[in-house]
Amino acid sequence: MPSRIKASSDASPGTVNVLAALLEARTGQRIAANRTWRIDTALKPIVAERSLGSIDELVRQVLEGTSPALADQIVDALLNQETSFFRDAGAIEGAVEAIATLDVRTPRVWCAGCASGQEPLSLAMAFADRAGIEPDIVATDVSSAAIARARAGRFSQFEIQRGLPIRRMLRWFEQDGNDWVASSDLVQRVTWRRHNLVADPAPGRPFDAVFCRNVLFYLAPSLRARVLDTIADCLRPGGLLLLGAGETVIGQSDRFAPSKRFRGMYEMTRREANPVYMAR
Ligand SMILES: C[S@@+](CC[C@H](N)C(=O)[O-])C[C@H]1O[C@@H](n2cnc3c(N)ncnc32)[C@H](O)[C@@H]1O
Repeated sequence: MPSRIKASSDASPGTVNVLAALLEARTGQRIAANRTWRIDTALKPIVAERSLGSIDELVRQVLEGTSPALADQIVDALLNQETSFFRDAGAIEGAVEAIATLDVRTPRVWCAGCASGQEPLSLAMAFADRAGIEPDIVATDVSSAAIARARAGRFSQFEIQRGLPIRRMLRWFEQDGNDWVASSDLVQRVTWRRHNLVADPAPGRPFDAVFCRNVLFYLAPSLRARVLDTIADCLRPGGLLLLGAGETVIGQSDRFAPSKRFRGMYEMTRREANPVYMAR
């Protein structure tokens, strides 16, 4: 159970604690004490949709268990799915460069916690500019709604303007009303799957690189270590890990170390990179 958190939400403290426990049990994500305001923003649309009076009433319905899909919908809404095209662009381009030097024609890349798809689509666009490399990109997220959005490849004007260079926008997207829709060629360069990092085995192996950016931040430390274990188990020797700008393996896992070859990336430690050890 998560520690009790003080509410800065319209919901009662008891409701906030039920919601925090539900989110943590399903995804490992914790609601930081200074972010409980997000509960209101996330859940008020569901309260309105169901013509309820308050978030407390919504949570009572969850506890009554009359609508199993409601708990899923609430967890989805509570997840922080903040993302953008070419988020931290230097890191994306640097990672693509690093993967290219691995000298594998079809590098296998896992993009874990891909939200509505901007990150793996950015990768696919960046790789498309490099002749001779056709990556096999698997993008996953615990949120089925996020994966459905990513598969649809439909983005608002606001989303398309965040980080996507105009040259790439014109090459890969078409305007449809107020939205922009990715070409099926681009969307199909990625395999989309629902996957829970804290509960499911890796979606295949071996991978040459794993992107797990801005996902570990709100996980409990023991779960961070478990997720890093899952990633280490599915990376091939010499494979690379990219975390978010505010995240690190230091103090979380001794299976990875900062890469000496590629700035900002992690590699498995020498013992881990031993193929005999990997074959266990
Ligand atoms: C802040 S977004 C980051 C998106 C993208 N990686 C980026 O950096 O722009 C975090 C994503 O991780 C997903 N997530 C959270 N917990 C997860 C879990 N246990 N398993 C898989 N995905 C998870 C959320 O649904 C959300 O889409």
